[in-house]
Amino acid sequence: MLPNDAGTSKPKATPVFREESQQTDNTPVFRDSTSEVHSQKEQRTLTEVILSIEKFTFSYASSKTTVLHNIVMDVKRGEVVAIIGPSGCGKSTLLKAINRIHEVSYPVHVEGKIMLWGENVYDPKVDVSVLRRRVGMVFQKPNPFPKSIYDNVAYGLKLIGGYTKAQMDEIVERSLQQAALWDEVKDRLQTNALGLSGGQQQRLCIARALATSPEILLMDEPCSALDPISTQRIEDLIDQLKGEYTFIIVTHNMQQAARVSDRTAFMMQGRLIEYNPTEKVFTKPEQQLTEDYILGRFG
Ligand SMILES: Nc1ncnc2c1ncn2[C@@H]1O[C@H](COP(=O)(O)OP(=O)(O)O)[C@@H](O)[C@H]1O
Ligand SMILES: [Mg+2]
Repeated sequence: MLPNDAGTSKPKATPVFREESQQTDNTPVFRDSTSEVHSQKEQRTLTEVILSIEKFTFSYASSKTTVLHNIVMDVKRGEVVAIIGPSGCGKSTLLKAINRIHEVSYPVHVEGKIMLWGENVYDPKVDVSVLRRRVGMVFQKPNPFPKSIYDNVAYGLKLIGGYTKAQMDEIVERSLQQAALWDEVKDRLQTNALGLSGGQQQRLCIARALATSPEILLMDEPCSALDPISTQRIEDLIDQLKGEYTFIIVTHNMQQAARVSDRTAFMMQGRLIEYNPTEKVFTKPEQQLTEDYILGRFG
C-alpha cells in the first residue's frame, strides 16, 4: 500500500524554519462550478498514497486523557483532504501530530504510526526539521515574522542555506505568485510584512510555507480570521495548487470543505467517524452521526 521507494530520492536538508503561527455555515452547498471542479479532479490521478495514518492514538503527557483514538486514514498525493468535526474533537491535534509540531511545546505520548513515504514520522531516526520542511503548516492566525516581505518568504531558504541571491529571488517570486500575492507586493518586497492586511498576511504565510517546497501543506482553519474575499482567494489558490501539492485542511466551514476538498474526514471525540469522498459525505453520508453533524443537529 505504501510506496517504499519514494522518500529515498528526497534531498536531506539542514534545519528548516518552524512556523507558529469562523465562520460557521451549516448548509453544505457545492459551488456552481462544481461540475467543472469535479471534471478537473477526475483528470488528476489520485492513486499514490503519500501519507498513511495507522492505528494512531495520541495523548498529551500533561493530561493523560486520550485525545485521538486509533485513527486510520490515508492521504493521496495531490488531493485535498478536509477535516471537520465539533470543537475539541481533535482536528488540530491530528494535524499537528503529522509534522510533530506540538513537540515544540508539549511532551506527548503516541501509539501506532504515521507513515510518510514509507517512513514512520515517529521513528527516533527522523530529523524533525526535515519532516517539517516536507510537511509545512499554516495556522489559523496569520503569523508573519516582523521582517520584510522578502525575508519572510526567504526565511526557510536561508536556514537551509546554499542558495544564491538569484535563486532566492526566483523562489521568492515563484512562491508569492503561487500564493497569489505577487502582484500586490512586488513593488514593496522590502517593506515590513506586518503592514499587510490580514488576508495578505495569510497568503504571505502560505508563500513562506511553499518556498521550501513541502510535499504536504497542513492548514488549520486558515480562513477563519479572514473576510469572504480573502477566503475566496485562499480557496482559489488551493484549487490551483492541488495536484502539485497535497493539502490537509481543518475547517469549521462545511461549505468550504464541500468546495475545496476531494475527501472529507469527520471526527468526533477523538475518533474518525467517517472518511469518504467529499460529495458522498455531504450528500449521502455513510454514518448517521455524520449526517446529524452536517445537518446541524449538534455542533
Ligand atoms: N496542549 C494540550 N494539553 C492538553 N490537552 C490539550 C492540549 N491541546 C488540546 N488539548 C485537548 O485535546 C482535545 C482536542 O483538542 P483540539 O485538537 O484542539 O481540538 P479541535 O481542533 O478539534 O478543536 C481537547 O479536549 C483539548 O482540550
Ligand atoms: Mg482546532
